[in-house]
Amino acid sequence: MIDEVAAALDDGLAQVAAVATLEDWRAVRPALTGRQSPLGLLNRRVGSLPAEERPGVGDAVVRARQRLESALEDRRQAIAAEHRRQQLGRERLDLTEALDSHRPRRGHLHVVTRAFERLEDVFVGLGFTVAEGPEVESDWYNFTALNMPPHHPARSEFDTMFVDLGEPGSVVLRTHTSPVQIRVMERQPPPLYVVVPGRVYRRDTPDATHMPVFHQIEGLVVDRGITFADLAGTIEAFTHAYFGPGWSSRLRPSYFPFTEPSAEYDIQRPDGSWLELGGCGMVHPNVLTSCGIDPEEWQGFAFGFGLDRLGASSHGVNDLRDLFTNDIRFLSQF
Ligand code: PHE
Repeated sequence: MIDEVAAALDDGLAQVAAVATLEDWRAVRPALTGRQSPLGLLNRRVGSLPAEERPGVGDAVVRARQRLESALEDRRQAIAAEHRRQQLGRERLDLTEALDSHRPRRGHLHVVTRAFERLEDVFVGLGFTVAEGPEVESDWYNFTALNMPPHHPARSEFDTMFVDLGEPGSVVLRTHTSPVQIRVMERQPPPLYVVVPGRVYRRDTPDATHMPVFHQIEGLVVDRGITFADLAGTIEAFTHAYFGPGWSSRLRPSYFPFTEPSAEYDIQRPDGSWLELGGCGMVHPNVLTSCGIDPEEWQGFAFGFGLDRLGASSHGVNDLRDLFTNDIRFLSQF
């Protein structure tokens, strides 16, 4: 009979293992442990066994029942856990997506700002410091101190925007960064090695290559024994450092009232084409004098060029206006 108990237990355990749902479980449980179950029937037969066999077989039936009960309980818990897992899966909300759409999106600096930062880095590497000046300027700094007295014909080259303040015509939106040359020379004694990034204004109708607001970077060096060769060398060194070894520069004779001699500064792309960048020259003795610097003792050079066409052409932007319309879809490309 012990063998029958063992067989009933094995069969019961196999049935428990096959139970897949709580419904099945509820039906299987009495069928395995109830009074009419194989073990229940075996249990009833124990009473009719010879007295010496009774305890052994009775004990086996009780243990078999306990094992089935504990297997059933394990199975019930496993089914319930699986049920919860599936329910959680169904009811799960993907909150990460909601979080993403609320997380502030990180932007980046504007192309022009980044060009300024790179230019400053290159010049700082060449030993320059960075200075700034006001965008609303007096006639004195923007023109007169730069060797352009009232009625000087060169003034008409700068399509000036005047500010309605004080004496008519005495306050302007600076037309170039050159007035900061004067401010720096007034403030600090030479030697001076300074670059000035900044926003400048001219009365231009916006089109693909002109904006009434644009950006320049100015350079000023004042020291003893400075020559035109220092100017040309600095511009060439800068060209290589900023654009790369395949690029070079050239100077063409030109005219600015505040430099003498003066030149236009062009750079040559690796494909051989030229890009006109800006103006430069040796600081005019009159300019040094108006800042209280003795031109017999000190010499200097200055240069200034626009950033916007440069930045636009290096990013393949054909229309300057796109840089300043501030359409985020356009700007986020860079
Ligand atoms: N300020 C000049 C311009 O805007 C450029 C320049 C700067 C020329 C310094 C010579 C020296 O056109």
